[in-house]
Amino acid sequence: MKKYLITGGRGYIGSVLTRRLSRSGAQVVVLDNGLVGGPELESPGVTYVDGDVLDAASWEKALDGVDAVVHLAAIVGDPACGVDTDTAWEVNYLGTIRVAEACRRAGVRSLVFASTCSNYGFTADAEVDVWSPMAPQSVYAESKVLSEHYLLSLPREELSTRLLRFATIHGLSPRMRFDLAVNVMTANAVERGGVTVYGGTQWRPFLHVEDAATAVHLVLQDGRRTAPSVYNCGFGEENYRMDSIGELIAEEISGVRMEILEEHTDPRNYRVNFDPIRRELGFTPSRRVIDTVREIRDAMREGKYLDFASPRYSNYLTAVAQRVDPVSA
Ligand SMILES: NC(=O)c1ccc[n+]([C@@H]2O[C@H](COP(=O)([O-])OP(=O)(O)OC[C@H]3O[C@@H](n4cnc5c(N)ncnc54)[C@H](O)[C@@H]3O)[C@@H](O)[C@H]2O)c1
Repeated sequence: MKKYLITGGRGYIGSVLTRRLSRSGAQVVVLDNGLVGGPELESPGVTYVDGDVLDAASWEKALDGVDAVVHLAAIVGDPACGVDTDTAWEVNYLGTIRVAEACRRAGVRSLVFASTCSNYGFTADAEVDVWSPMAPQSVYAESKVLSEHYLLSLPREELSTRLLRFATIHGLSPRMRFDLAVNVMTANAVERGGVTVYGGTQWRPFLHVEDAATAVHLVLQDGRRTAPSVYNCGFGEENYRMDSIGELIAEEISGVRMEILEEHTDPRNYRVNFDPIRRELGFTPSRRVIDTVREIRDAMREGKYLDFASPRYSNYLTAVAQRVDPVSA
């Protein structure tokens, strides 16, 4: 039986991945400090360790017998990282180093790292692949780019690192986030009858959270020694201009009006090539953006997530609430 340790396993992607790996019969150890308050699932073979990735001494024993680590823990998103950039650098960059060092000490030979297509930043309208130059537009993306550099510099015979640059995720999770574009735009459309698009002409790739879990699972099962170390993780057809996301939501949810605020431009604009992960791992996502629009609409019509604007669904608002004011501290 395989045994995995997932850092950040109580988070939006992590709780779906934990459930998936547990259902596949694996043992899963979740390491999480509860920063965003995600749930502890009651799934067979899952144990929870309350710990901070920065403090390896306090959780290193949990690596006993682990076949692979999936490192998801981070301060996630440009706005959340912008609240306290020192902490973002510490958790995202130093935290990655601490996790990799702990793996090497414990003899864990495989690490899967959650990176992001945000690393590409601004690429005009050209499609980018994993070798394209990166132009991170935020501390969040910069911390991921440097974490990638560090991980790729490690000797592969000691620690095989696989990096997944995820597209922007959407869909329902036990730890829900309504600070992600498709989720929040859909919720606003259902509850307030309007969908607002900021900018509109910028491109962005999207991926369902269940498919993100599938991708990690495929990478964990891939035993090829020569496997590439970096994949863009998404689906070519799921590159959208943001105004077309607004149109799609307005068409699906009756009575919704779309507003485009052209003056609110987004510095990020990237369209991504995902052919290698499809070709080499057989990754074919099962759901599209439209499926999430329907999932969230239906859930809200059943009375769920009517508090979608609550700070607990937003990493930025959570970070603001937790910020220690240096004057009063
Ligand atoms: N959601 C997306 O659209 C997306 C896109 C690209 C990449 N990613 C990456 O995927 C990973 C997971 O993202 P998510 O959307 O699930 O975010 P999330 O904020 O829901 O989950 C992050 C988890 O990490 C935990 N955590 C934070 N700091 C920690 C620390 N110091 N020690 C231990 N645990 C800590 C949090 O409690 C939380 O459970 C992140 O690395 C993120 O950068 C996410």
